Amino acid sequence: MRLLGIETSCDETAAAVVAGQGAGADRILSNIVLSQADAHLAFGGVVPEIAARAHVDALDAVIAAALKEAGTALDDLDAIAATAGPGLMGGLIVGLTTAKALALASGKPLIAVNHLEGHALTARLTDDLDFPYLLLLVSGGHSQIVVVDGVSRYRLLGTTIDDAAGEAFDKTAKMLGLGYPGGPKVEAAASTGNPTRFALPRPMVGRPQPDFSFAGLKTALRLAAEEASPLSGQNVADICASFQAAVTDCIADRLSVSLDILQAEGIRPTALVAAGGVAANEMIRTRLSNIAEGRGLRLVVPPLNLCGDNAAMIAWAGLERCRLGLFDGLDVGPQARWPLTELEPGQ
Ligand code: KG4
Ligand code: ZN
Repeated sequence: MRLLGIETSCDETAAAVVAGQGAGADRILSNIVLSQADAHLAFGGVVPEIAARAHVDALDAVIAAALKEAGTALDDLDAIAATAGPGLMGGLIVGLTTAKALALASGKPLIAVNHLEGHALTARLTDDLDFPYLLLLVSGGHSQIVVVDGVSRYRLLGTTIDDAAGEAFDKTAKMLGLGYPGGPKVEAAASTGNPTRFALPRPMVGRPQPDFSFAGLKTALRLAAEEASPLSGQNVADICASFQAAVTDCIADRLSVSLDILQAEGIRPTALVAAGGVAANEMIRTRLSNIAEGRGLRLVVPPLNLCGDNAAMIAWAGLERCRLGLFDGLDVGPQARWPLTELEPGQ
């Protein structure tokens, strides 16, 4: 089995070819990701209209490059998968419409993939994990703790009541003038900072329901920045380190509560899995590793290039759906909002 995947839900124009045979990431025959970060840099965040136009400009060439690198012709494909949501509507339309045109022209079936399912199933692409596993999904748009029971079968244990974790990193970077995307910039600045210099809050920590909240951190951070102003390099480093430590503490606490809930239910996950751009953060990865070790659980964190947005995860989720015969009609529409828990088999 061989699938083309297309991802255009945010600011990465991506296409990939993934095969059913082989093991782990060797199944990825090509994985082209063209970041638009430079186009959005001046605005400190993704501008939807700019993103949609950039997808239009780049997508054909990115798909051609992915097929070429994989040595695959359209005719060799078993299906064509594209992100249908959630995400920015303009980009979703570009990717999904392109996938429909390719499906129509080649006579191959179409699979409309939920972007979050792409992140959620990446651990099966890389590590052939069995269900159920506990997933921490932390990206620019989402912070969720999910029990993954199967393809299309997700149980949400916790989510953010305001900002997403990645959004908090991005806002911190913007406030400190570090640029976009903020996660890697904040992490780099934090590496020379003192994480105990500023006493930032740990929102939601200790609550029995494993939800997140990051909006309060933003205010505390602004006050810390005002207090430390003028902001020397060391002050910025200390703020970033204190912020990163706070987010890491929140994530660790929320995951521990989630694991307690599963234990009380008598459910033993096959692994603790992290996904989404924020899972690229080294401090967070280390803390997850401690939690997993403390519970005797396997930890699976995809390699950096598969943590952030990419099309290999979309092709793989498509392949998993293809195996189950979950195809979509050409009338399937994009959905800006599409929670994992509202995934219908075959939708
Ligand atoms: O999954 P992703 O690539 O796109 C979304 O679907 O949102 O995640 C992007 C998010 C951004 O908010 C970015 O700042 C954050 O992930 N991020 C990080 C790191 N690398 C990316 N956050 C913290 N530390 C990092 N190293
Ligand atoms: Zn994502």
